[in-house]
Amino acid sequence: MKLWEGRFSKDTARIFDEFNASIKVDINLFEYDIMGSVAHAKMLSKCGIISEEEGKLIITALNDILNDYRDGKIEFDVSDEDVHMLIEKELIKRIGQVGKKVHTARSRNDQVVLDERLFCREKNIYLQELIKNLINTIIKLAEENTDAIMPGFTHLQKAQPVLFSHYILAYAQMLKRDLIRFKQNFNSININPLGSAALAGTSFDIDRFFVANQLGFEGVTENSIDTVSDRDFILEMLFNIAILQIHLSRLAEDFIIFNTDEFKFIELDDAYCSGSSIMPQKKNPDALELIRGKTGRTIGNLVGLLTVLKALPLSYNKDLQEDKEFLFDSIDTAEKSLIIINEILKTLRVNKENMLMSCKSGFINATDLADYLVSKGIAFRDAHFIVGNIVKFCIESKKTLEDVSLKEYRQFCDKIEEDVYDFIDIRNCVQRRKSYGGTSQKALMAQIDNLKEFLKSFE
Ligand code: ARG
Repeated sequence: MKLWEGRFSKDTARIFDEFNASIKVDINLFEYDIMGSVAHAKMLSKCGIISEEEGKLIITALNDILNDYRDGKIEFDVSDEDVHMLIEKELIKRIGQVGKKVHTARSRNDQVVLDERLFCREKNIYLQELIKNLINTIIKLAEENTDAIMPGFTHLQKAQPVLFSHYILAYAQMLKRDLIRFKQNFNSININPLGSAALAGTSFDIDRFFVANQLGFEGVTENSIDTVSDRDFILEMLFNIAILQIHLSRLAEDFIIFNTDEFKFIELDDAYCSGSSIMPQKKNPDALELIRGKTGRTIGNLVGLLTVLKALPLSYNKDLQEDKEFLFDSIDTAEKSLIIINEILKTLRVNKENMLMSCKSGFINATDLADYLVSKGIAFRDAHFIVGNIVKFCIESKKTLEDVSLKEYRQFCDKIEEDVYDFIDIRNCVQRRKSYGGTSQKALMAQIDNLKEFLKSFE
């Protein structure tokens, strides 16, 4: 028996029931649907639309249903269609006629958006927590390794020496922006849609502000047609998750490279790697690869919902039912990725010696040599040309810039003196980059202080 079958002369096709049902997916909204129904029933009885006793009866039964759900005692199948129908059916089964009154002045169209807003609100807060944890882990990693110097890369070619701490904090900055975006999204989520009914509002004298208050919403939506059609708050969530995952996937990629035998800058803990079924020596960075790989689906989920919404006529259409799989999948992916990457960062080993060793080749102090010539009065463009020649000489004679003798240096430029060696020392190269946001120890400390300040003031 379907709750809406009054108008129908025959049963719906089984294959259509299966196609139409969202229960397997939206069962995840069970707790939120009950919360919404409890608030709605309270409002109906406060406004005299149902009696006080009826309100109490409904609320008690809803709480019983919730407990049974938590105990795994609620069964369902596709004939229940969706979570809203399932709960209403269960309510009617338990308290009969009174249960049939709960759907007064509401529709599944505003109910589903309500559930989704409650769900997104909770997940948004949780994701913010996870992001904060990760930022804190990164700060700790940076603080513990302030003496580690590694080559910074452009084009994946060694470019200039940087502090490992400065490098890793680049990700904290990305995550900081993610956090700000999630917080903004919270504001568009936290508004009460209930009371919009199917699309036009309701003729009953309801109190939407009371419901908003009950459920902790900041405000109430302003237009019933928009309310049942709007999924912007989910799009924002999906967009925020896609960017977050892209950040995590870049970190994953860096660490997959740094963990290779060729780099050996870091060593991943065994707990987040797996072996090969044929090659006994293998220890593969699967967790990081999966974070990188799963980023694809979060982008797909965003594009999927954008596509569902494009040119969809107002107001509610069944197309909108598709929104939940995208949402649940992205949230699940982001939660797991954040937790795992946090553990990976906490457990990895930083190989400072290998990082420093890597700085010895690749002429990563060539820019500093050019800067040195500038300090001796040579124009930067000329200095760049001279150092280019010196590097060419070094490649041919298999030397580093440190190996070049003063006599050899002077053949390229007679302004070069003994102090050049100190100037191009890798540590000095790093410490001289004191510009705000640069890689020197001094700038790094300011960066860490600012991040900590941001986290403290971020509520
Ligand atoms: N299962 C539906 C969804 O997820 C709930 C709303 C159904 N509304 C309707 N008029 N059929 O969107």
